This record gives sequence, structure tokens and C-alpha cells, in this order.
Amino acid sequence: MNVTFSKAAAPKTGALAIPVFERGMKSKGFAALDKASGGHLTRAAKAGDFTGKQGQKLVITSPGKLPNSHVILLGAGKAGDLSLLKAEDIGGRTIAAIYRGPVKAVTFMLEGFEQDGMEMAQLHAHIAYGARLRAYSFDKYRTTAKKEDLPSLNKIAINSPEASAVRAVFEDLEAVAEGVFITRDLVSEPANFLYPESFAQTCRDLESLGLKVSILGEKEMEKLGMGSLLGVGQGSRRESKIAVMEWRGGKKGDRPVAFVGKGVTFDTGGISLKPGQGMWDMKFDMGGAGAVTGAMAALAKRGAKANVVGLIGLVENMPDGNAQRPGDVVTSMSGQTIEVLNTDAEGRLVLADVMTYAQEKYSPKIMIDLATLTGAIIISLAHEFGGMFSNDEDLCAALDEAAKEVGEDLWRMPLTKAHDKMIDSDIADMKNISNGRAGGSSTAAAFLKRFVKEGVEWAHLDIAGVAWADKAKPTVPKGGSGYGVRLLDNYIRRFHEGE
Ligand code: BES
Ligand code: ZN
Ligand code: ZN
Repeated sequence: MNVTFSKAAAPKTGALAIPVFERGMKSKGFAALDKASGGHLTRAAKAGDFTGKQGQKLVITSPGKLPNSHVILLGAGKAGDLSLLKAEDIGGRTIAAIYRGPVKAVTFMLEGFEQDGMEMAQLHAHIAYGARLRAYSFDKYRTTAKKEDLPSLNKIAINSPEASAVRAVFEDLEAVAEGVFITRDLVSEPANFLYPESFAQTCRDLESLGLKVSILGEKEMEKLGMGSLLGVGQGSRRESKIAVMEWRGGKKGDRPVAFVGKGVTFDTGGISLKPGQGMWDMKFDMGGAGAVTGAMAALAKRGAKANVVGLIGLVENMPDGNAQRPGDVVTSMSGQTIEVLNTDAEGRLVLADVMTYAQEKYSPKIMIDLATLTGAIIISLAHEFGGMFSNDEDLCAALDEAAKEVGEDLWRMPLTKAHDKMIDSDIADMKNISNGRAGGSSTAAAFLKRFVKEGVEWAHLDIAGVAWADKAKPTVPKGGSGYGVRLLDNYIRRFHEGE
């Protein structure tokens, strides 16, 4: 997708998009185009009941005397109520209206679209960002789709009086969007193509961005004593892997922030087999690892001034003659033993060893893990929030702020001594499930907490409800959502860069 910026007059071809504040039809930008259309735009707005309310949209085909194929009017709500997130939605909604169909190019006419107290370049760049984020699809396996069902849009033009400043702001945003696309591609990829080895290869390919990438195979993991992770992968024909991506953009010697991701490339449940209905969803059980990978790519692409290391545990959870059994006891890299009562509670087993490795090898001050860890978090928070569990108030506050700013909201969940007690085992140091289903997300978090070292500020983000979008949102098409990339990137930008 080509995104361009200019101050030139409206192009004569393609579609034009105009955001309009509520009852803002007299603004300079709109009025000029309306005049050029011979009053067609105001007539169409009237006939279509378009007043500029937030979220309204009107697609006008053959707009009167204008030579363009379409004019799209977007409601921007009350002047004064605009935020950067709302600006992104305007961009995204525009693309949603025309992405599949004949339109090849769309130009946003933004002259006069501004708000007191908001930098114009920021506002216009975020419209472009929202548009870019929505202009994504995963069509690689469709061979018989009709042309009109596939995207033909290949150009987004921004027409702004501050074109060059908008371009400068957009550069960093585009880096993040590209990280989001890497994650969406990974999350949507079927598990016969995306398995630990092929996922690790995708990480290795990111070396071209300046990341240092290393891969551990099963031999190395055995040497390190990672019985917990290896137990999950032992029923699979595919070799388990850990991929480590390092970005050293900060001061030499500064302890890094560690991102840890659950990368179960397919979760059948293992011997504690899941029901067939809906099992296909479990190709996205690598959403945490996907988010970490996309975030590392985004940080590298925009040259973040911070030290960050991303570690992902890549495993396929399969039932097999060699698979681990319910009741097996495994020894984790930390030395703690685990009674595996349910082989479907495998994510925590994978994360335990990756978290231990992260802390021993990289001594992070802060460690944040992301995982599609529990169905229970969907019962609690639906598909609206990621669940946040943490041992540190300040880290929670920072993540919450970073999340809100980019529209990837988090909700803090309880994690107490009582939850910890619920995973005590009769025969080992802990068990991997508690007795009932009560508080399933909190007991999973309590399990992870047992692998966090003294002094490490840690947060666990359960993203089972948000890694996949069943329904499109303005800036997120259906499918792998890319949730977490913008959040992690913004957290680093806001709290680890800048001095
Ligand atoms: N990958 C699942 C959790 C999940 C469920 C992610 C739905 C996305 C959508 C996880 O490995 C799992 O199976 N968890 C079990 C835990 C239980 C056995 C304690 C669950 O949530 O049912
Ligand atoms: Zn599972
Ligand atoms: Zn799982």
C-alpha cells in the first residue's frame, strides 16, 4: 500500500474522502468541493440524512460535476470532541467502505479539518494511520475469489496543508502498522504452515531489521533443564523452539525490558483433548508470541531508543503415543516440579521455562508476558479488554495508560495469596490447574508468578479474548487482530525512551 502526502488540489481520479464535523458542512474544505460538485454533496448529504455525527458515513457515487468516482463523507462528531483514536477510526471507516471493490486510490481531503489544541500534523497523520491499519487482508489462500471480492485499493493519499509534517509523523506510525501486520499474518496463518520451526524462521528473517535473533532447539532446552516446556511439545512431530529477538537501541548496560510470548502454534489440548467444535480457533494460540514478534519488528523499524528483548516459546500441543499424560510430573528450568493434571493447561507450562530463561540470561528489570492463556478471561472480560495481572502498581498504571492511548484496553484482574494456594499439589511443588474452574485466569496467573524472581517487576497479559477479531472494528479487520503490538510499542515509547 502506497501512502502519499501532498498539498496539491484534489486529484481528478479515484475516490475522495472528507471528514465532516457535526453540522460542519459549511467548513472551507467541504464547501469548496461541494461547489465543484455543483451542490451535489449537500444534496446527497440531505437525502442520506448525513449530519456529520460521529461514526456516520455516506458513500456518494458519481458525485455530480466532480470527475471522481466516489466521494465518501465521514462523520467526525462534535468539533472539540475529536481525539487521535477517533481520527484513526475515521481513516479506518473510510477504507472499510471501499476496500473490496473497484476503487484503486483514495484521497483524504483534510484542509480545514482541524481542532483547537490539537496539532494538525498529528491529527492528519492519525487519519492516515487508521486508514493504513484497516487496509489489510489475509487472502493468500483464496484462489477462486472474484475480482470484486478482493482488494484493489493500492493508494492512500493525504491532502493536507501541512503535508510534509504529516509525512514525518506518519513514518513512525507506519513502522508500528507494519509490526501489526506481521502479527496479523502470523495469527491468521493455519497451523499446517505455521509451526515452531517456520515461526522461528520468520523471526530469523527479522535480522534484516537490525534485531539480533537466536533460536534454541530441543537439545539446548534439554541441557537447560526445560522439562516444563519440553513436556508440552513431546507429543508433536514438530520440534519445539524458543526464539529470542534482541533490540539494543538504548544505553549500553541498561537492563532490558523483556517481552515473553506464548507461542502454541496449535493447541489440541493434548491427551486432555479439546472438543472438535471450535478447535480450529486454536491456531491463534500463538497470539502472545505473535504480538511480541510484531512489537520487536516495530521497535526495530522505528529505531526505538531502548533495550528490549523478546522471547517466545514455540510448541505444538498434540495427543500422541509419546504425549505427556495427565498426572505426569515434570521439572522446570527453575528446579520447581509441576504435576500436570490437565495437558490443556499448557500455556503456563511453556511460559514458565521461557520466563526463567529470560530472567537468568537477560536480567530484565521489567518482564511482561502475553498469552492466549485462558478461556476464563473471555468469560470475565468478553472481547473488550486484555486481562492484566501484576506484582507492581506502577507497572500496571504505566501499561494501563499506554494501552488506553492506542485503544488496546486492559483491565486489571486480582492475583492474591488465595489464588496461589489453589495450585498447591499433593505430590509436587505445584499443579497446573486448580480444583475447580473458579477464578481460572487468576490461578493461571498465580502459576506464572511462581516463576518470577524476587525484584523483577512483572505483568501478565491474558489476551485470549482479543487476539482474534470475530467482528471487524474501524481499524481492525476480521481475523488476527494484531492486539498487543501497539500497546507494547507505546509502553516502550512512553516509559523507556526520551531521556
Ligand atoms: N489456549 C487455551 C485458552 C484459550 C481458550 C485461548 C479460548 C483462546 C480462546 C488454553 O491453553 C486452555 O486450553 N486453557 C484451559 C485451561 C483449563 C484446562 C484449566 C481453558 O481455558 O479451558
Ligand atoms: Zn490448552
Ligand atoms: Zn493454549
